[in-house]
Amino acid sequence: MQANFQKIVVLGTGGTIAGESRSANEGLAYTAGQRGVAQLLEAVAGKTHSLPESLAGCQIETEQVAQLDSKDMDFATWIDLAKRCEQHLTQADVGALVITHGTDTLEETAYFLSRVMTSEKPIVLTCAMRPANFKDADGPQNLRDALNVAAQLKGRGVWMVAAGEIHHSQFVQKVHPTRLNAFDSGEHGAAGKVISDQIRWSPSWTSPLPEPLLDVAKLPSAENWPWVEIILNHVQAGNRGLNCWVAAGLQGVVVAGTGNGAMSETLKQALQKAQSHGVLVRVASRCSQGPVIATENHAFETSGNLNAVKTRVALMLDILSKQQSH
Ligand code: SIN
Repeated sequence: MQANFQKIVVLGTGGTIAGESRSANEGLAYTAGQRGVAQLLEAVAGKTHSLPESLAGCQIETEQVAQLDSKDMDFATWIDLAKRCEQHLTQADVGALVITHGTDTLEETAYFLSRVMTSEKPIVLTCAMRPANFKDADGPQNLRDALNVAAQLKGRGVWMVAAGEIHHSQFVQKVHPTRLNAFDSGEHGAAGKVISDQIRWSPSWTSPLPEPLLDVAKLPSAENWPWVEIILNHVQAGNRGLNCWVAAGLQGVVVAGTGNGAMSETLKQALQKAQSHGVLVRVASRCSQGPVIATENHAFETSGNLNAVKTRVALMLDILSKQQSH
């Protein structure tokens, strides 16, 4: 079988997939972002390895966009990454992109890209839970599976592939700090699986296509992004922190509410005051699964099926897009 297109570009950003530890037996204490993306590809597609059949005839190119631990991911890197994605995807011979990324903020980057990219070609993020020099490193298999999926996907969309599962950027989140299969798509489930190079799509799964909120070309420089924070409702959730942020110029806040997006009366009143000062408020849930269902009891706009960190990304892009339409 011949690949559908000539080229896949793999963009490296760091993470554990590119990490190294003191010894091949140490899988949890390591430094992320040590190996270049070309070296990661070498472990999958080097002289001694053959790629899945779906990649026959397909050229694979690499580019190092960043080299960081994704806990330190920032807006400037997101802008660079989105611009590199855009640039590569406009090339006629490029059919898809794969991005290697740390697991910790992968879901935020994937969701961000899904709301700024307009290309009709797919992007697949992948990662690892063990460093590259670990005896049972999971990165090479994850990268192999991601390339395989990227070669077979069609159309616009941002996906992630790890631990033999295919997830969509809209639903995926990291749910475990150390397990190899650390990602989950909650009630939606995985979109599919990769088993011995065979892709099996989940039969009843349908792909969402969130509309772009802002074009890559319109992303302002990092220092001009809005200040948006996340606040958690919990026992005796108060207003002091929020009031300080508002006084310091906060532009938006996401509440990770209890249950169906609930919050203490004290927090609610502080948020209403913040809103009257122009702060945009969105409500998500601190529960790890299920959407917030809007009811007449909700005083603020709810996030639907997005978790709090993705709601923050959507709110930042909303604020930017409103600023640009004025
Ligand atoms: C990171 O997110 O860069 C480090 C953790 C990981 O990739 O698992």
